[in-house]
Order: sequence, then C-alpha cells, then structure tokens
Amino acid sequence: MDSIIVRGGRELNGQIAIAGAKNAALALMPATLLSEEPLTLTNAPRLSDIKTMTTLLQSLGAEVAPMRDGQVLALACHGAINHVAEYDIVRKMRASNLVLGPLLAREGHAIVSLPGGCAIGARPMDIHIHGLEAMGAEIALKDGYLHARAPLGGLKGAQVDFPFASVGATENVMMAATLARGTTVITNAAREPEIVDLAECLTRMGARIDGAGTRAITIEGVDRLHGATHPVVTDRIELGTYMLAPVLAGGAVECLGGRLDLVQAFADKLDEAGIEVTETAAGLKVARRNGTPKAVNVTTEPFPGFPTDLQAQMMAMLCTASGTSVLEETIFENRFMHAPELMRMGAEIEVHGGSATVRGVERLKGAPVMATDLRASVSLILAGLAAEGETVVNRVYHLDRGYEQLVRKLSGIGADVERVHGQ
Ligand code: EPZ
Repeated sequence: MDSIIVRGGRELNGQIAIAGAKNAALALMPATLLSEEPLTLTNAPRLSDIKTMTTLLQSLGAEVAPMRDGQVLALACHGAINHVAEYDIVRKMRASNLVLGPLLAREGHAIVSLPGGCAIGARPMDIHIHGLEAMGAEIALKDGYLHARAPLGGLKGAQVDFPFASVGATENVMMAATLARGTTVITNAAREPEIVDLAECLTRMGARIDGAGTRAITIEGVDRLHGATHPVVTDRIELGTYMLAPVLAGGAVECLGGRLDLVQAFADKLDEAGIEVTETAAGLKVARRNGTPKAVNVTTEPFPGFPTDLQAQMMAMLCTASGTSVLEETIFENRFMHAPELMRMGAEIEVHGGSATVRGVERLKGAPVMATDLRASVSLILAGLAAEGETVVNRVYHLDRGYEQLVRKLSGIGADVERVHGQ
C-alpha cells in the first residue's frame, strides 16, 4: 500500500486547477441507463471511484469507453442485460446504489446489494426505499440484497416527502421519476450542487424537471430520454480542500475553476477566521497573509450549510488556529476518525459523540499517521503541510477515490510532498 510523505513548513503560492466533481459524476454516470442513446460527460475527474462505477455499469450491460482527452467519459446503454449490482462492488462504493432508480425506471426491476456500513456510519437506504415505494415499486430485502420491481405499467408519479434531505435518495428518485407515468414531487429534497448538475443533465436528455436546488423538485415523466453531452460541475469539496492549503501553510493560492456559490458557507467560515477569499476571473484566491487564523465553531448541515465533506479538513486547520473551536458533525454518526490521527501530530482534540472541541496549538509535529476514509485522509495531508518535520500518511488508496493527482497539484504550489510505493 502506498504512502504519501509531507515535509511541512513551506509557504504555498501559485495556482491549482480544480477537477470535475466526483459526487456529481457518480450520479451522472448511472443516468446512461435511462436512455438507449449515448451520454457524454466532459470535465469528468480521473478517480478510482469513477473506475468502480464504470465496472459496475459495464456489468449491467452499459458500454463505457476508456476516458479520452483527459476528461471525456462516453457511455451508452442499449438495454441492461443484467440487473444485479453485486455486493462486492457496492460495499466498496456506496454510490453504486444510484443504479437502483434508473434500472427500475428503464427495466422495471433491479437487484441491488445493500451497501453495508462504512467507516463513517451505518448509511442505510430506508429513504431511497420510501421514495421508490411511493412510486409503486415493490422492494424486498433478501440475503442482503434489495429486490425491487416496478408495477406492470411502470413506476407512477407520486408525492415523495423525505424525512431527511438525503442526497442519494433525491438522486435515485429524481432519475426514476423521469420515466414514470405522471408527475412526481419530492419535498425536503437535497439541494446540493450535484443535484442541480444531475437535473441539468437529465433535462438535456429530455427530462422535465423543475425546482432542482430548492426543497421541492417536480418531475413530469416522459416516455423516453435521448442522448446528451454534459459538463460535470466543479468539485466543491476538492475546491474547499485546496483553499485550506495556504491557510495552514501560509501563502496565497488561486483555485482555477473555483466558484464562490459552491462553497459559500465554507468561505464564510474562512472569513470569520480572518482569511481572505477573493473571486478572480479564473476562480477563487485564498491568502493567509498575516498571522494565525482565528478559532471558529462549525456545524455540518445539508447544503447550503457547511458541508460534512469539509469537516475533517476544517478540523486540521483549526488545530493550529488561535483559540478553541467546537465542531458539530450532524450528518454522519462516526466522522471524527481523523481526530486521533491529528492528535498523534500534537493536536489537542476532545471528541464527545458528534461534537469535537479543538484547542489550537502553536505548531503540529510530523508523524506517521493512518488514513481511514477519503476526507480524513486529506485532512492529514493538510496537517502535514503545516507541521514541523515529516508526516507519513499511510493507506493512501482512500485518497485516490476523490483526489486526482494530489501530489502533483500540491507540488505545483511549492509543497514538499512525494508518494512512495508500498509493498
Ligand atoms: C452523499 O452521500 C455523498 N456521496 C457523500 O460524500 C456526502 O458526505 C453525503 O452525500 C452528504 O452530503 C456521493 O454523493 C457519492 P445522504 P449519500 O444520503 O448520498 C443518512 C464523500 O466523501 N441516510 O445525504 O450517501 C445517512 O446514513 C462522500 O465524497 C439514511 O439514514 O448521503 C447519513 O447519515 C462521503 N437513510 C445521512 O443520511 C437513507 O436512506 C446523509 O446521507 C439515506 C441516508
């Protein structure tokens, strides 16, 4: 298993290009199941999760060409030959469950493994099931798999009221509703930019969707969808991650392609901490010119609140802020696994259930640390940029899921990082 070595203490200056969003691409790719015509995604990120979704879609009968020109993903599905999303794939990547809605809509049945728990939480699918059953689907759990079947005439439009604004459930129901008979209204829908991006792509394919990005999404079913070409939206989590690099290490970094509307709540917190975030013609520029960031309190919420996927990275920054910060993680039940690793670097953190208190220290010290999940891993890299000495982050395969060419990008702004291949 590979490791990444970070030698801290160097100021970071320059530009980083932000890639297309992993969490948008993982919802856009299954949309190919909804049409016989080709779907082409541009600005797609080159990540291991994209490869996993490619393998899954190919196992269902879709054609997915190798990525060309860097970022173009060409998909087509003339008809699913298989309707089973195997446990072995789904357990590795929960987003595999996003084939459920499209398969039900297009084929009338699907067998999708329950993902099982993952490092950050139990991650059940009850909200997905609730929504699809409201549309007439019959879903039974057997041997760890969801066996789903649409009514004979196909799924019906329905009123779907979500108890929680689940991103994946909103995506599954929205995709299923595009081909249902009648109109579906989703209330308490997730409002993440990835939902808006999926709705834009489905609309390009001929779907009739209103209200994406608000709490209520209306989808009028149509008979069929046609092919389309769609640019994947910028990755707001990669963006927020790299915005923190100069905050921890000092300097000024311009994130090319960055959009303030994608990270407003996060940028507001940086502003509260005394960090300058400015919009430029090419993206977002972040500078830490004078002194130590101030401690701030953070509570994660569904969009447009502070994103849970930036909580670990923010904690790394707060470890060396001046004062004491409290982070409340309200989305997942076990998303502080980066805390004990940061404490190995000298951070002062107390975790009580969903709340972590961070007392800022003068300087972190480099140490060997263990990556546990995607966002926890990158928080350790960020901490290493500011730490004295050498930090070795082990099990970096977690990082490859969500950060394209991280070492090259950080080296490009002056960081001393290298990847060493393990046994
Ligand atoms: C998406 O996961 C993202 N993944 C996650 O990013 C992100 O953390 C999450 O949304 C929240 O923003 C992708 O888009 C591929 P949810 P998703 O359904 O859809 C509970 C990353 O690091 N829940 O909004 O699975 C669930 O257990 C990943 O890039 C139910 O209880 O998130 C969790 O506590 C990590 N029942 C909360 O809701 C359900 O049926 C949020 O889940 C569904 C969800």
